[in-house]
Amino acid sequence: MVRLLAFAGSTRADSYNQRLLDIAAAHARGAGAEVTAIRLKDFDLPLFDEDLEARGFPPKADELRSLLIAHDGFLIASPEYNGGVSGVLKNAIDWASRPRAGEALPALAAFRGKVAGLMAATITPYGGLRGILQLRAILGTIQTVAATQNVLVPFADKAFEGAELRDPMAKQMLPTLVDRVIQMAGALGPKS
Ligand SMILES: Cc1cc2nc3c(=O)[nH]c(=O)nc-3n(C[C@H](O)[C@H](O)[C@H](O)COP(=O)(O)O)c2cc1C
Repeated sequence: MVRLLAFAGSTRADSYNQRLLDIAAAHARGAGAEVTAIRLKDFDLPLFDEDLEARGFPPKADELRSLLIAHDGFLIASPEYNGGVSGVLKNAIDWASRPRAGEALPALAAFRGKVAGLMAATITPYGGLRGILQLRAILGTIQTVAATQNVLVPFADKAFEGAELRDPMAKQMLPTLVDRVIQMAGALGPKS
């Protein structure tokens, strides 16, 4: 069974991206994947700092890294902030990309050969595409392949009714993206 780790790039209590992610996770479970849903807020990661890292890898960063290693792919929904990737998400990626004792620097155990499905919800008309394109490039650098499809939710403050997605385009794209991530992760094979 394909194992997916689901996390959002927003830690806001009423995050639209968290809502979008929950819908994607539910679809993935229905399609037969095993999904672990986490919240980056629970990891309370310090800002990445090589001096801090040299003094000892924070246990929560290690926990996040181990979770990424234990999954075949990721479902990520994130807002864009000022046209770019959310700082919370980039910080988490930076910590998880670091090697542990005895590993070669580019080992990238948490990311190499993994598949990602990228989604974004924003309250503006832009739908977060700029952030997604940056995220795609970052993940490519650390050898995670992002599925070609994106799910974009513009006007997110009007696109949900409770936990339900109303935006017709996003509603159509979400199952297509999630099914593709499961298919690709299955084709690439289990990572641990
Ligand atoms: C610092 C900051 C920068 C933002 N920059 C953008 C932006 O570049 N593009 C955009 O579409 N929305 C931007 N927004 C608005 C977000 O779309 C909105 O806050 C959204 O609800 C955040 O996602 P969340 O609901 O998952 O927390 C920004 C919000 C903040 C707080």
